[in-house]
Amino acid sequence: MSTVLVTGGSGYIGSHTVISLSENGYDVVIVDNLSNSKMEVLNRLEKITGKRFKFYNIDCCDTDALRKVFEENKIDSVIHFAGLKAVGESVKIPLDYYSNNIGSLISVCRLMSEFNVNNIVFSSSATVYGSSEDVPFTEESPLGVCTNPYGWTKWMIEQILRDYAKADPSKKVCLLRYFNPVGAHESGLLGEDPRGIPNNLFPYISKVAGGTLDCLTVFGDDYDTPDGTCLRDYIHVVDLAQGHVKALKFLDKTEDSVSVFNLGTGKGTSVLEALNAFEKACGHEIKHVIGPRRSGDIAVCYASTAKAEEVLGFKAQYGIDEMCSSCWKWQTMNPEGLKD
Ligand code: NAD
Ligand code: WQD
Repeated sequence: MSTVLVTGGSGYIGSHTVISLSENGYDVVIVDNLSNSKMEVLNRLEKITGKRFKFYNIDCCDTDALRKVFEENKIDSVIHFAGLKAVGESVKIPLDYYSNNIGSLISVCRLMSEFNVNNIVFSSSATVYGSSEDVPFTEESPLGVCTNPYGWTKWMIEQILRDYAKADPSKKVCLLRYFNPVGAHESGLLGEDPRGIPNNLFPYISKVAGGTLDCLTVFGDDYDTPDGTCLRDYIHVVDLAQGHVKALKFLDKTEDSVSVFNLGTGKGTSVLEALNAFEKACGHEIKHVIGPRRSGDIAVCYASTAKAEEVLGFKAQYGIDEMCSSCWKWQTMNPEGLKD
């Protein structure tokens, strides 16, 4: 059985990916420092899969601590999710973002070299692309000038991984550029569990729908889009998880040292469309007001999915209705999120 080290594996996307890996016959070792996730995720994973995954509470930047994981387990490949991801926070504490996101990646790569682990899948982001004029973004679209330190860490890590693979021909890298991951596991046992007031649309809508927050502010309705609100490519987290399994299988057979894939649906959904779909899922109106634009937002962002479809055989199965209904189930079953 092939063993995958999943860093950040108790986080939102990581935990859903652990399920897909397990369903596809992989053995999983999770490393997470719980800076943005909770131990309870391990219990939930056990309920869903019937397995208790090996878990290390380790900061990936701590190379010596992380070495223990490579010594104690025969790791065959790595999926590196561990990182900080809040755009606004990254503007306030840029050094923390650069040191955590880049430091953890370098530490993982050093240990991959030391222990002859060759394949790594990295969580990149559509945030590395340029302006809305280029949509749909293909993997060849020009990389943009990032508007925040978080985005730059993704941009820089992509470059670091290219250099790493160039210097050592045994290494194979898969950069997955996610669009907007949303939704939750169908069981309602796992989902996005942000600390504090959410920054992202879906967790915010969920909390207004559930009554924990009062009102959604729609950030601008004067964009050059059909209803004036921004378009995004929302992708169900369960589809996204499946994309990682496809990426691992692809790395086993490809000769290319670096491969890049968009993971999205190829479809743009406006803020108001998302809100309407959520109202349908929860069965009641969701209070909202139109506010000013949020700084840094681009009008339109969606993926070209052709390459992922042709080369990885990846095609998202779920649409916006399933994204909303799974979010709502997660919200109603866990109104206060998971316990620490
Ligand atoms: P998340 O915060 O839920 O998961 C990240 C996990 O990494 C958390 O459990 C956190 O505790 C852990 N972590 C952070 N720094 C660590 C470190 N130094 N050592 C060990 N563990 C550490 O976020 P997510 O939404 O699941 O995102 C996973 C990855 O995907 C991140 O790299 C993120 O930047 C990237 N990504 C996310 C989105 C999105 O919208 N959610 C979009 C594109 C890319
Ligand atoms: C979606 C739309 C907002 C909240 C972010 C990161 C990106 C990637 C995915 C990691 C936008 C609008 C939001 C609210 C609103 N993450 N909105 N009211 O900004 O597309 O992408 O997550 O890589 O890097 O930037 O996602 O969910 O924040 O916003 O109107 O209260 O919803 O303006 O149009 P975004 P989001």
